[in-house]
Amino acid sequence: MPGPKRDDAPTAPAPSAPDIRYMFEPRGVAVIGASDNPKKIGHSIVSNIIEGGYKGGLYPVNPKGGELLGRKMLASVEDAPGPVDMAVITVPADAVYGVLDGCARKGVKFLVIITSGFSETGNSREEHRIVERAREGGMRVLGPNIFGVYSRAASLNATFGPKGILPGSVAIISQSGAIGSAMMGKTAAEHIGLSAMVSIGNKSDLDESDCLEYLMRSEQTRVIMMYMEGVKDGERLLRVLREATARKPVVVIKSGRSKRGALAAASHTGSLAGADEVFEDVVAQAGAIRAENIQEALDWSKFLAEAAMPEGQSTLIVTNGGGIGVLAADACEKYGVGLLDDVQTIKAHFQSVVPPFGSLKNPVDLTGQATPDDYDKSLGAALSLENVHGVVCLYCETGVFDPDRLAAIVKARYDQFRAVKPIVFSFFGGQVLEDRVAMLRHAGVPVYTDVYEAVSCLGAAFRHQATRAYAAGATPFQPPRIDAAAIHRAIDGALADGRTFLLAHESRAVMDAVGVRMPRARVARSLSESVLAAKEIGFPVVMKVVSKDIVHKSDAGGVALDLDDEREVVDAYQAIMQSCRAYAPKAVIEGVEVMQMVRGGVETIVGARRDPSFGPTLMFGLGGIYVEVLKDVSFRSSPIDRREAFRMVSDIRSYSLLLGVRGEERKDIEGIIDALLRLDQMLKACPQVTDVELNPLRVFDEGEGVIALDARILLAAIAPAPAPGAAAVPPHPNPSSSPTTVSKEGS
Ligand code: ACO
Repeated sequence: MPGPKRDDAPTAPAPSAPDIRYMFEPRGVAVIGASDNPKKIGHSIVSNIIEGGYKGGLYPVNPKGGELLGRKMLASVEDAPGPVDMAVITVPADAVYGVLDGCARKGVKFLVIITSGFSETGNSREEHRIVERAREGGMRVLGPNIFGVYSRAASLNATFGPKGILPGSVAIISQSGAIGSAMMGKTAAEHIGLSAMVSIGNKSDLDESDCLEYLMRSEQTRVIMMYMEGVKDGERLLRVLREATARKPVVVIKSGRSKRGALAAASHTGSLAGADEVFEDVVAQAGAIRAENIQEALDWSKFLAEAAMPEGQSTLIVTNGGGIGVLAADACEKYGVGLLDDVQTIKAHFQSVVPPFGSLKNPVDLTGQATPDDYDKSLGAALSLENVHGVVCLYCETGVFDPDRLAAIVKARYDQFRAVKPIVFSFFGGQVLEDRVAMLRHAGVPVYTDVYEAVSCLGAAFRHQATRAYAAGATPFQPPRIDAAAIHRAIDGALADGRTFLLAHESRAVMDAVGVRMPRARVARSLSESVLAAKEIGFPVVMKVVSKDIVHKSDAGGVALDLDDEREVVDAYQAIMQSCRAYAPKAVIEGVEVMQMVRGGVETIVGARRDPSFGPTLMFGLGGIYVEVLKDVSFRSSPIDRREAFRMVSDIRSYSLLLGVRGEERKDIEGIIDALLRLDQMLKACPQVTDVELNPLRVFDEGEGVIALDARILLAAIAPAPAPGAAAVPPHPNPSSSPTTVSKEGS
C-alpha cells in the first residue's frame, strides 16, 4: 500500500512529529505481544487485522517465536522486513516501556498502546515516562487504555472489538474503550457504515483534536461522532472543531453532566470533566452538535451521513393523523426545525389529496382515510416544492392501508429525492409496521417508530446547516478599544502589594480603562471626608468599607445603602467602623468608599475568566434568582465578535425580560454587548487577569446604557509570559475568594 502523501499534510504539533495520516494509513503494522492463545487480546488484534483485509505489512511480535495465523512471529519489531508505521502494544503495563527503544530504532511512528494500568489507576508517572521516551524517539502515543483503531482508508481493523465492521462514512472517536468497542457492533447492527473508529483512552499524548485533524480532511468521512469524558486542551479542541464543523457535521456526546457522573469519569479515564455548562456552550459555539445519549448520537450520525442538507428553514409535515402531526410540530420546535407557513402554496398543491375534513395547513393532514396513492402524491408534491426545505412524513397504522405498498412508495420517493432535500419518516403502529420500519431502515431509509426521533435527526441537519451559514456570514469586526496601559498599572500595583485581587478603587480604575461605566465614587479616609464625598457625588449614596483584609464586606457589616442625607452618612460611617472592627479586629481599614446609589434597571451578571479546560471564556446571565436558582447563564469561548456577543445574550431562557415585558421598555442590549466585548479585550490584553465579575451590571432602558455596581477582579499570582490572544494562566490559588461560580446544572 502506498504511504501517505506529504504535500497536503495536516498541521503537525511539532516539526519532528509524524504525520497523523500514518496512524490511519500505515504502511506496516506490528502487534507487540501477539499471542497464539486465541483468548488473548494480542491474538484477537492480529486476527482482526487479517480478517479486515489490511493490505500493508503485518508483523506479529513475540520473543517466543513460531507462527500466528500463518504469519511468522518475530522476536523483535526490528526484524520486520518492511516499514512499520504503527506498533500496537498488547504487553502488560510493566513491559510497555521496555519495547519502546526497539520501536524507535525501527522508525515506528505511532504507538497504539492497548494496555491498561496507567493514569486511570493513578499510575501517571509510568505513563509520562512512556510518552517522553516515545517523543524522544520521534513517535506519538495513542492511549494507553484503549481498544485500538479501525481505518477504512487502509482496511485496517487494529482493534480487539467485534468483527464484521460495515465500511461507510461515519468516523467515531471514543474516549471510552468499552463504549467505542461496543459501538463497533452496534453500528453494524444498525447498518451504520464506519470510515474510522479511534479509541483515545487516557489521551496521554494524542487526543481527539489530533484525530479530528485527519478525519475532517478524510474524503471517506462525512460525519464525525465523538464520545468524550473530559477535555485536556480545550482551546485547541475548539480551534480544530471550528475548522472541522465548517467541512462536515461533528456530533458530540459528553458524559459527566452530573456531579456523580463527573466523578465517575475522573476514575474511568483519569479525566477532569470540567464544568459541563461551559462545555455545552463553547462546543456549540464551535459548531458541534451535542447529543443527549448514544442512541441519539448514532441516529444523528447515520442520518447526517446520508441526508442532503437543507437549503432553507421551511419544513412540511405530511400525516394521516392530527395528533401525531401536533407531536411532530412540537418536536420541530424543540429541535429547531422551522415550519413552512405558506398556506397558499399548501392549498394549491394538496387540495386534491386532502378531504374537506382534513387540514390544508402545516401539518398537512390527509386524515385516516388516506390511501398509499395519497401519500405518493403528497410526498411527490412536498419534495418537489422549492420553498419546502425538509419533509417529515408520518403514518399512524390504520386498517384500510396496505403497508407494503406504503413501504414501496416511501423507498421510491426517498431514492428519488434523497440527494435533493432531507426527509424523515415515522411509522407508528403494530408488529406489521415495525417489520416494515426494520426493512426500510436496512435499506437505508430514515424511518423511525417515534416521531421525536425522526424530527431530532432533521433538527441535527438544520442545526449543522445553520452553523455553517452563521460561520460563512462573519464580517470583519473592530473590537472596542481599551486602555491596556492603565489596566496594567493597577494590576502591577496590586501584585507588587502581594495581592491577587484588586481593591474596589483599583477595580474602578480598571473598569474606567476598560470602558465599563461604574457609579461615581470616592475613597474617604475619615468621617469628614465621607460627608464631603457624599455631597460632591450627590445623595442618595452607598458606603462600603475599604480594607484588603475584609473580602466579604457585607458579612462584616461593611456596607450601607440608600443614605439620603448628611446625618445618615455620619451614622452609617460609625456603624461600619464599629462592626468591621468587631468582625476583624486586626484588619487594616483604609476608609470607606462613598458611591452614587443607582436605582432601577435590570440586574445582570457579566463575567470573564480563564477556564481550566477552555482558557479565556465569557459569561452572561440575568442576576438575582435567575443566576442563583435558575442558573440561566450562557458561556462563550474568547474571542467573540458583536454577533456572537448578541447570540450569547439572546441565548438565555429569560432573554424576553430584556426585550421588555408587560409594557416595559426594551433594555439596553447593546450596552451589555459592549461590556462583554470590552471584558473580552481585557482578557486578551492582560494575561494576569484570571477572573472578572461585574455583578450586578444594571441594564437601563434602550439608549440609557449599563452600569456595573461592583467589579471583582482576580489575578494570577505569577504573571505568565504574554501570549497572543489567550494565555494559559494557573488557576487562582485561593478558590474561596473567587467570584460567584455559576453553573446551569445547579450544585
Ligand atoms: N515483547 C513481545 N511480546 C511480549 C513481551 C515483549 N516484550 N512481553 C510479553 N510478551 C508476550 C507474552 O509472552 C504474551 O504472549 P504469550 O501468550 O505467547 O505468552 C503476550 O505478550 C501478552 O502478555 P501477557 O503477559 O500474557 O498479557 P495478557 O495478554 O494477559 O494481557 C494486556 C496484556 C491485554 C495488555 C493487559 O495487560 C491489559 O492491559 N488488559 C486491559 C486492556 C484494556 O482493557 N484496554 C482498554 C480497552 S477498552 C475496553 O475496555 C474494551
